[in-house]
Amino acid sequence: MSEVVPRLPVKIAPSILSADFARLGEQVQQVEAAGADRIHVDVMDGHFVPNLSMGAVVVRSLRPVTRLPLEVHLMVEEPGRFLEGFVQAGADTLIVHLEVLPDPRPLLEHIRRGLGKRGGLAINPDMPVERLRPFLRDIDVALCMTVFPGFGGQSYIPASTARIAELRRLIGMENAECELEVDGGIDARTISEAARAGADVFVAGTAIFADPEGPATAVRRLARLVEQARQR
Ligand code: DX5
Ligand code: ZN
Repeated sequence: MSEVVPRLPVKIAPSILSADFARLGEQVQQVEAAGADRIHVDVMDGHFVPNLSMGAVVVRSLRPVTRLPLEVHLMVEEPGRFLEGFVQAGADTLIVHLEVLPDPRPLLEHIRRGLGKRGGLAINPDMPVERLRPFLRDIDVALCMTVFPGFGGQSYIPASTARIAELRRLIGMENAECELEVDGGIDARTISEAARAGADVFVAGTAIFADPEGPATAVRRLARLVEQARQR
């Protein structure tokens, strides 16, 4: 178990999709030591997105090596089938996609009250952010995708900035307490823009685990950029 290190005031969520899986525990401990807020675990089923990634076994292996919360982003067609497995493995937050849930309320209720975990709703870049509005008071995380999910290393879609700002406005209007998280193409060039638009949690994979100076330096750099963006 690693030492408890204070988390940075800015919430950075490293996505392990871009980590070196042969050194996963070590890399997670590096971002923890640098002050990351949580570990973001991308789960893909080859149906909702055209790619496969990882399942609950990865969460189970990570649970003893870090004190950070483990946040599972379920890019799957039938998220309800997998919730218990991830919770038993040690997940703290379960994020499901609104695209696959005509009425997400029963599932969110199950995650938050039944399983006692944090629940989030994600939307793809082509879903109007307005569609999240009725649920903002029933979730812990509103995840605004800033790329079409399925692969790490894609470029931030520029129209995302206006969507983040609109979502921030809706969260305010609803007096909701959920976090506004962004995911996809977040790097040293795009993070300031997303922060100024109102995002408060920043998922980054490539920008952290492929940084030539290493993941810890990358986490600190991204957090500093958010702090600077907020001061302006
Ligand atoms: C996209 C995933 C993201 C992805 C982010 O399908 O949901 O979490 O890993 O990776 P980068 O930061 O490389 O865009
Ligand atoms: Zn993700």
